[in-house]
Amino acid sequence: MAPCFSRNPAQRFARHLAPSLSGLALALCLGSLIAAAGAQRPMIETATQAHPAAAFAFPASPDPWWKHAVVYEIYPRSFQDSNGDGIGDLNGITSRLDYLKTLGIDAMWISPMYPSPQVDFGYDISNYESVDPQYGTLADMDKLIAESKKRGLRICLDMVLNHTSDKHPWFIDAASSRTSPKHDWYVWNDGKSADAPGVTAYQKRFEHEGKVPPNNWVSGFGGSAWEWVPAVHQFYYHKFYKQQPDLNWDNPAVEKAMFGAMRFWLDRGVAGFRLDAIPTLFEDPQLRDERELGGVNAQGDPNLAGNYTDNLPKVHDVIRRMRAMVDSYPGDRVLIGETYLPNTAALDQWYGGEAHDELQLPMDMLVGFHGDHDKLTADSFRQHIVEVETQVHGSQPLLVFDNHDNVRAIDRYGDGTHNDQINKLLATVLFTTKATALMYYGEELGMTTTTPTHKEDVKDPIGITGWPQEKGRDGERTPMQWTPGPQAGFSTDPHTWLPVAPDYKTVNVQVESKEKGSELAWFEQMMALRRSNPALRSGTMTMLDTSNPDVLSYVRSTGTGPAVVIAMNFTAEPKTLSLDLSSAGVTGTSIKTLAADDASLLSIGTLKNVTLPPYASWVASVQ
Ligand code: GLC
Repeated sequence: MAPCFSRNPAQRFARHLAPSLSGLALALCLGSLIAAAGAQRPMIETATQAHPAAAFAFPASPDPWWKHAVVYEIYPRSFQDSNGDGIGDLNGITSRLDYLKTLGIDAMWISPMYPSPQVDFGYDISNYESVDPQYGTLADMDKLIAESKKRGLRICLDMVLNHTSDKHPWFIDAASSRTSPKHDWYVWNDGKSADAPGVTAYQKRFEHEGKVPPNNWVSGFGGSAWEWVPAVHQFYYHKFYKQQPDLNWDNPAVEKAMFGAMRFWLDRGVAGFRLDAIPTLFEDPQLRDERELGGVNAQGDPNLAGNYTDNLPKVHDVIRRMRAMVDSYPGDRVLIGETYLPNTAALDQWYGGEAHDELQLPMDMLVGFHGDHDKLTADSFRQHIVEVETQVHGSQPLLVFDNHDNVRAIDRYGDGTHNDQINKLLATVLFTTKATALMYYGEELGMTTTTPTHKEDVKDPIGITGWPQEKGRDGERTPMQWTPGPQAGFSTDPHTWLPVAPDYKTVNVQVESKEKGSELAWFEQMMALRRSNPALRSGTMTMLDTSNPDVLSYVRSTGTGPAVVIAMNFTAEPKTLSLDLSSAGVTGTSIKTLAADDASLLSIGTLKNVTLPPYASWVASVQ
């Protein structure tokens, strides 16, 4: 296994290679715009048929809700500030629920909002059963859950199980004495003598009291993964920042406490969890050195394989018990995993393979963050999509292109000339396969990555220690762009925690909701189609024209009623194709465009010699 971070910022976390309008007014405005758009906006013909209000008219289905869901990641610091301090908060999210409803999502994953020293912006938790005052109160969270529920929206929380903050009372206690009852809740080691044979100059950098760390493990965030605590004359292990000590999952008390924290939130009505860095719960008991891969990473540390700190088999026992616990609650609570894995076979293990008794939705990072430097090629997308659709024992794939840790997909996959079309193409993939879809705030607007240009502006610690090779993750965490007004409607405070991206005057909800053919309109249309069209909702999927290196096409069909054909041009040149649907048992000849991001495709009535403009997406019904 390669390190957590690759040197390519675009692959930062690809571990396998290692309001001026109030929320209500805005929703009303969007709703009426969509309703009024039928005549002027032929491209969203279907979106008008499937107005968001129709979403709940869909017949009751025996499937769990998450199977057809769109989950929307909210980085609470950056979504909406309600109290004018330049930092987003829970009441801000509540004020935007009508927007989210109109957009067409089903659930939110809210990145950590628990009390935290905020070294890793919430991923260093000091109390699992409360809310950080920066973000509000427990009562605000209860209100957010209740208001979401009223709108048919679900809330999933981020659960950080691998580590706590070093300011968590457990760790403070653990680090105070070797005899503390909490000492064994973390991973401690006496270290080895700095004079021991084989100790390298690099390891000697971390020498204390004549001891060096027990092995060569490096933190994903820079430096040794071991930190010395003079009070106990021991090192503790931290996969991430030193302020994030790893919990010792070999101690049953840890599992009990963490399951207890999950129950706390399940009892309050959350729909499930996104499990942070879940493959890293266990470490090799023998603490064997990792194999050096040669070279150093952006933090100046040796590149190491991750065989002894990542994806150890024992983690699956914990996950099976966790699944049983979560399944004891009504309402199809869901476990989503942050699972950067080397291949689909490894992903299948996270579902529990044939037994289907682990995570319902481990994230597939191979389609959205695949290893060949995010090259947008029809072949690699086809291959990865087919794999995740067919090699997970019938489990439900979860596709994701964007999150708070990686350069936004529009920048990773964009060519600089056709970014708008490319973002729509990615959305077309995201919403038209059988997979559950996970998206990140602002993706629907085409928000871009705004990486700091000066080291002194960087907030993410890895961007400070890794500068200039690693500029951190601030760029993908800039405030949500709501309006062309001050601070893009995110906050009344001109000193927002991160600067608003410079394109906010055109890339924002208010402007895009009025714009025919905007990215926002496309995302809404795709989500509405996915919800309302039976073939897109639950039809089988058959790849078409499988040796075509330029165009990705497939057909979704329920066997009865119209099928849906999807074709996307993955190149900057127009491409002409003829599609034969017989392999999918689809024989209809009446073709009707449901959605196309280019006017030339609106009136296509045939599957022969269809010319797709550069990076165009075309979705049509076949009857
Ligand atoms: C996950 C989170 C990332 C965080 C890390 C440590 O990868 O997505 O933001 O820094 O875990 O908790």
